[in-house]
Amino acid sequence: MSRFSRLLALLAMAVLAGCGKPEFSDAEKKTIASLALSALPPLKTDTTNRFADVPAAAALGSTLFFEVGMSGDGKVSCSTCHKIDRQFQDDLPQAVGVGRTNRRTMPLAGVAHDPWFFWDGRRDSLWAQALTPLENPLEQAGNRAAYAHYIKARFGERYERIFGPLPDLSTVPANASPLGSDAEKAAWNAMSAAQAEAVNRVFANIGKAIAAFERSIAPPQTRFDRFAAALATGIQPQGDDAFSPEEILGLKLFIGKASCVTCHTGPRFTDSSFHNTGVPPVANLPPDRGRIDAVRQVEADPFNCFGAFRDGDASACGELRFMVKAGPELVRAYKTPSLRGAATRPPYMHAGQFSSLDEVVAHYSKAPTSVEGVSEVHPLQLSDRERGAVVAFLKTLAE
Ligand code: HEC
Ligand code: HEC
Repeated sequence: MSRFSRLLALLAMAVLAGCGKPEFSDAEKKTIASLALSALPPLKTDTTNRFADVPAAAALGSTLFFEVGMSGDGKVSCSTCHKIDRQFQDDLPQAVGVGRTNRRTMPLAGVAHDPWFFWDGRRDSLWAQALTPLENPLEQAGNRAAYAHYIKARFGERYERIFGPLPDLSTVPANASPLGSDAEKAAWNAMSAAQAEAVNRVFANIGKAIAAFERSIAPPQTRFDRFAAALATGIQPQGDDAFSPEEILGLKLFIGKASCVTCHTGPRFTDSSFHNTGVPPVANLPPDRGRIDAVRQVEADPFNCFGAFRDGDASACGELRFMVKAGPELVRAYKTPSLRGAATRPPYMHAGQFSSLDEVVAHYSKAPTSVEGVSEVHPLQLSDRERGAVVAFLKTLAE
């Protein structure tokens, strides 16, 4: 073979191996690496919950998470809606507990990394969040006095090994709560300040145990992560880990022209913040204004970071202290959901407004104006092929 034809053969091999034209620019490679699960930092310690990383607390929390006795009617637990084999959600547009709620159950993988909880962020810690469904009449519909009695009767020993002695509950009414029925409120108001404080302490500790358990719920590795790992080492991803041309186009759009990555950023594909994306309200549900109405609620929550039940000092309360409290951008703003696993758990959005990823991507492509407040999303005018490619990419985050 002549020198020239050897060179030609080498060139042809290089083109065949895909070396001719790099698939991703250096900037794209950097963004892709920032989205890989390997970029997820270890969970920060939660100094507001000194039991957050105590294994016995997580074990008790896991028991309570699945315990239907932790409800007003004895039939509903956290896991009724947050199903362990369904990414800790329930596939419904709006969750159903003792009653039918107005919002979709949120999946829980990696949730402990967030500063705010619920679609509107009306709680500021995982442990304060857990107390809310326990007393919500549409969810577990119980009351804190009944929960304290129940813990003492059923899990007293386990509780005391973690949290120390339970208070004397002999004079605490069977049912009482500042948030309950009129009778429960009256019973609560008739209690002494010391009794109320004792019940609230047990209630907060229930939340702290459940939060310790929830910290263990981590997002699994996906095909995207294996693809990203191979790309980072400069090796062509092989076999199943290799992306099809359609998936590559979808990924490029996601981090490029479609600018999904401005909000769905980092290894969990969320900025953990709140945005109005013009998602329409659902007919027949009560008005839902998102973040703007949650500000007052988190400020008023006695279990918030400034409250008496926080462990550690107030230096942990930066998020609450510097929370944005007003502004048109909070109207109908909702927490950016993680997109990991999303492809296999329709429906989508805060009240299950869309039943498929095709509908979600069509929504972003059109970017309708918001019924209230201002949508941050601008029309993308994606072609059929491009919309399909974005959906194909999203599927790589769920396989
Ligand atoms: C009736 C169904 C139901 C039950 C029971 C329930 N949840 Fe939820 N969960 C939801 C819904 C719906 C949301 C979103 C509600 C909202 O934004 O107003 C949610 C939100 C959450 C969030 C916030 C996730 C995030 O990303 O911000 C956490 C954490 C959570 N639930 C944990 C729990 C725990 C712990 C329990 C038991 C103590 C529980 N849930 C009981 C339906 C339920
Ligand atoms: C301005 C921030 C922002 C941008 C840009 C954005 N999203 Fe979202 N995304 C959100 C928020 C906020 C929600 C929840 C909205 C709601 O429920 O009202 C959401 C919801 C979703 C959901 C539903 C997930 C679930 O569990 O319900 C998917 C899928 C999604 N986005 C994909 C995309 C894609 C694909 C793009 C790019 C075409 C994109 N997003 C651009 C903020 C954004």
